[in-house]
Amino acid sequence: MIKDTFGRVHDYLRISLTDNCNLRCFYCMPEEKYAFAPASKLMQVDEIETIAKLFVANGVKKIRLTGGEPLVRKDAPKIIKSLGNLGIELAITTNGIRVHEMLDELLGANIKAINISLDTLQPDKFLKITRRDLYHRVRSNIELLLQHNIRVKINVVVMKGLNDNEILDFIALTKHNNIEVRFIEFMPFSGNKWTSNQVFTLHEILMEAASKYDAIPVEPEPNDTSKRYMIPGHVGSFAVISTMSEPFCDTCNRMRLTADGKLKNCLFSKDETDLLGALRRGEEILPLIQETISAKAKALGGQFSGVFENIDASKLENRSMITIGG
Ligand code: GTP
Ligand code: 5AD
Ligand code: SF4
Repeated sequence: MIKDTFGRVHDYLRISLTDNCNLRCFYCMPEEKYAFAPASKLMQVDEIETIAKLFVANGVKKIRLTGGEPLVRKDAPKIIKSLGNLGIELAITTNGIRVHEMLDELLGANIKAINISLDTLQPDKFLKITRRDLYHRVRSNIELLLQHNIRVKINVVVMKGLNDNEILDFIALTKHNNIEVRFIEFMPFSGNKWTSNQVFTLHEILMEAASKYDAIPVEPEPNDTSKRYMIPGHVGSFAVISTMSEPFCDTCNRMRLTADGKLKNCLFSKDETDLLGALRRGEEILPLIQETISAKAKALGGQFSGVFENIDASKLENRSMITIGG
């Protein structure tokens, strides 16, 4: 079992497969010219498998594949197949662009739930945010997943003045579609020019929802990142990931492995441990994993506390979102 010094059991591993992506969302990729990691620096299929097996042998019950965009990696089907055999819950967070090309592999690996990142329901705004004209592709791939009975959550990063006027439109989508729309408070990462006045908070989201709907809170699952709400008469639901205004670190069970094989004990940790380097040198990696999790701060990577309005994003030491995977 992998436990930190606050008694939190860590049984959820997020593995980033690549820092590459087929979209160019302005808040995810740093603005200065970005060089994707060369293939030799990335964990190879057998290395991912070895490391994942070790985590599973030590209590990991859920693995989520992330990116960049995990499905741009050519050998993603191989990785999905291999991890699908580990007897754990395998999940993916994707932008949805390549879902139709990999549907058979996803179904074959027994993937039951897929989280799709989609920040707007307006094609022209999609182009503005992602710099790619692929809105309709994402929508049709969401349909495809639903037709195949895969549970779909839509991740919406809400930014003031950009898409905070679409909260009700997203909630309307849950009336006839069995999806969970998750509104995410905008978080600071290297290069994303975060300022506190861009954050549209849990409270603001609930106020907006209340202007049209009676939202009823749902009892959370243990370790949930989100607070969920049902609306009478809707087959789907909506939820809020409130990292900035109401962090949920007390129940954190998450570890992150970057595509270049570094273990992070928190989304906001500045320290990372080079598991891939150690593996390639033939060293034991379990003690490194345990040390890394033992060093985990109580909350938010120990990098900020108190009200989010006081955060100076330029002082945070971390990676860019595209190299963490969320
Ligand atoms: P489920 O397993 O379906 O609940 O998904 P998830 O929320 O664990 O993962 P997903 O990749 O869909 O992430 C959605 C949002 O939650 C992203 O913005 C992530 O950055 C954020 N998130 C995921 N895990 C954590 C976490 O441990 N801490 C914080 N603060 N945010 C997280
Ligand atoms: N704040 C909050 N969520 C973010 N994501 C990407 N960047 C940020 C940010 N700065 C989301 C993506 C994806 C998930 C993994 O993280 O939209 O759904
Ligand atoms: Fe866990 Fe860090 Fe996220 Fe808090 S901010 S929930 S400690 S990963």
